[in-house]
Parts: sequence; C-alpha cells; structure tokens
Amino acid sequence: MVPVGRLAGLHEDVAAGATTASDLAPQDAWVARGRAEIPAATGSVYLQTGGIGPAPKAVIDEVKDRLEFQNQGPADPRYATDMARVEPDLRAQLARVFGAATDEVALTHSTSEGISIVAWSLNWRPGDEVILSNIEHPANVIPWYVLRDRFGIAIREIDLSVGTSLMDEVAAQLSPRTRMVSISHVSRNNGRTIRTGESAELGRLLRTRGIRYHLDGAQGPGCVPTDFRALGCDCYSTCGHKWLLGPKGTGALFVRRNILDDVQLSWAGSHSHATMDYEGAYTLLPGAARYEFGTRALADFAGFGRAVEWMEDIGFERIEDRIQSLVDHAIEAIAHTDGLEVSSPGTRPDRSGVFVLQLPADCDATALYNDLREDARILASPVRQPRDFRLSIHFFNTRDEIDAAIAAIAERCR
Ligand SMILES: Cc1ncc(COP(=O)(O)O)c(C=O)c1O
Repeated sequence: MVPVGRLAGLHEDVAAGATTASDLAPQDAWVARGRAEIPAATGSVYLQTGGIGPAPKAVIDEVKDRLEFQNQGPADPRYATDMARVEPDLRAQLARVFGAATDEVALTHSTSEGISIVAWSLNWRPGDEVILSNIEHPANVIPWYVLRDRFGIAIREIDLSVGTSLMDEVAAQLSPRTRMVSISHVSRNNGRTIRTGESAELGRLLRTRGIRYHLDGAQGPGCVPTDFRALGCDCYSTCGHKWLLGPKGTGALFVRRNILDDVQLSWAGSHSHATMDYEGAYTLLPGAARYEFGTRALADFAGFGRAVEWMEDIGFERIEDRIQSLVDHAIEAIAHTDGLEVSSPGTRPDRSGVFVLQLPADCDATALYNDLREDARILASPVRQPRDFRLSIHFFNTRDEIDAAIAAIAERCR
C-alpha cells in the first residue's frame, strides 16, 4: 500500500496522523491560524465535519471554564446570575447571525430534537400527508415513520437528486391532504443545497395552501449562507456540533414568530411556561423558548456561543468562500483521476462543503471508509447511495489533504 503522504506529496508524517498546511499561500495565513486552534485538523485528515465537527480549543476551554464556574455554587447568585445569561445571550446571538428574531429561537441539543418538535407539532389525522425527499438523513425520516405508524399519516417522496426542480417535484406531490413539507437545506447524501430564492418561492406557495414548511439545517450554518427569514420556511432545525464547530449536544430550532401558537408543544415542562398555578392554569412563554424545558447544559450552550463568535471573528463569508474554492479544487482533482466521478452538484449555490464522489462499481464504500480511517487517518464517510462517498470540506482543510484523500481512494479502489 502506498503511504498517503507520499501519494499526495505531503509531509511524510501525514499517515502517522500529523498534517501540515504546506500548500497554504501567505494570504491564507488565517487558515493556518484556524487549523492550529483545532486539534483534530492537524491530528488527522479531517473530512468528517458533516458527520460530527471538531471544535477549536477556545470552545472547549469555554465549556470547561463555565462548568467549573457554575460548580462553585450552582444555586448561589454569585454564579447563577451569570449562568442565567447564557441562554438568552445565545438566542440573541443566533438570531442576529442567522436572520431570525430572538423570540424565534429555541435552544435544543441536536438537529433531531428540533425536527421532532416540528414533526409532533400538528394534530395529525389518518391520511394526512407529509412530503420528504430521497436525500434525507434518518433524523428526518424516522420521526415520520413513527407518526405514520401511530397516526396513519402518509409519506410522499420527492426526488432531489442533482438537477431536479424543487418546485416541480413538490408541485407533483401536493394534494389536499398535504400538511407539511420537511426537507434538507443541505443534503448529507448528495450535498445539494436548496437555493435561498427557490426556498423562499416554495415557502410562499406552501403558505398560500396552509402547509407547514420545515428545513433540516444540520448541514447549513457554517457551511453555506444561512438566513432563516430569507429562506422563507416556517421552521428550521440545526445544530452546533457540525459546521459551526461547537460542543457536541448543542442545537437550535427557529420558528416564525407569527406561527408560534400553531407549532404546538408535544413536550413541555418547567421553563416552557410564563405563568402557572396548581389549579390547572398556565400560559406559555411568548417566544420559541417555550419549546425548551428542564435543567439544561448551560456550559455547552456557552461553548456554542463561543464557537459562533470564533467563526464570526474569522468571517462567515470568508469561510464559505474558502469552502467553495476547496470544492473547486476537489472537482478539478476528480477530473484528473481515473475511475472517480463527482456526484454532488457542480456549481454554486447548489453545492456545499458536502462534496460527494462516485466510486468505481466494485469498490465497497464501507470497507473504504474503515480502511481510510484506520490505516491513513483520513476521516470521510459513506452515504446513502452505495457507490457515493463523502468528503466534508471545511475551511480548515487544505488542497494537499483533498489530494491525499482522493489519491488514497483511487489507490484503494483500483
Ligand atoms: C441532514 C442531517 N439532518 C440531521 C442530522 C442529525 O443531526 P443531530 O445529530 O444534530 O441530530 C444529520 C447528522 O448527520 C444530518 O446530516
């Protein structure tokens, strides 16, 4: 087997787990600084942000510091008062950065939590229909199977393979029984990104028909431009632990202010309410924070805020542009590699950092995945289509790493 480092002309110790950024131009010094702050970025060829993102040291330090701070007296106002600011501050920060109002933001622990809140927010009746696509993550499939089995709803599927028309696909599946459309903003399977304009157009159509529109945004923020208001959806579920490089187990759900009372609660508890008594009366919080309840991981949420701040300091646009230029490089590299093709969309804004290539027919994606991560510390992922293989390309990756991964794949699939 040819060592990955040699294949790519990389520093020799790539295969031993330490990657360098020798191909970075002086104007990319910010990338080198970012890489240096993310241990996983130099401890491996990290092309798995779409699965789970690494975090910069500053984020982990924030979580540790907050845990220790809180632990000096969780109920002591000298500590509790500060900790009580974490969630409102984070809601305001996420609202500002991703185009929502503060009272439209609920803090969750994962994208899946947001999806389930939305999926269970209607009083489903037998025969009601939801529209999903053929490029969804299980997190946006399983809740619908459960609702199908419990309430007899019907699932309709649209084809969001590369090149299909979102509007035509949805139009062909709409019926008088359609009550919700729930699809990925950026697909984890083929990298396709719903354009902001087409999403807004779909949102307008669905609103006129009283159909709720939810986007699964696990792969959105930090990877592609994400503006909740401009996307025109009713609800948007996302997480802190992928492209935003935040702590694991952090997320957010955005819900349009004017439909908060229609997006009904299926789970509630202490902190969902504004007022209550023990005679049976209660009122919910006025904002989306009503979807939160119970004691919460405040230190992790503080780390989530630190992660978004860290990304903002670099600049979201700069990060998104860098991702796109690395994807250009990957497309070019595949064009010069026998046996491999590109599966994800070729042009911006349909594409994202979720870069998917097609393997030769006889190459087993799961075996390849195991082989790459164990032998070469190249972390990538198989996806739904058996011949597709995903490289999640974030700003901290380098052209050398992409070349190394592609060469290693070609070598192993030869
Ligand atoms: C498109 C998509 N949706 C949902 C999820 C689940 O995310 P979480 O672990 O935040 O629930 C993932 C995770 O990979 C995903 O890619």
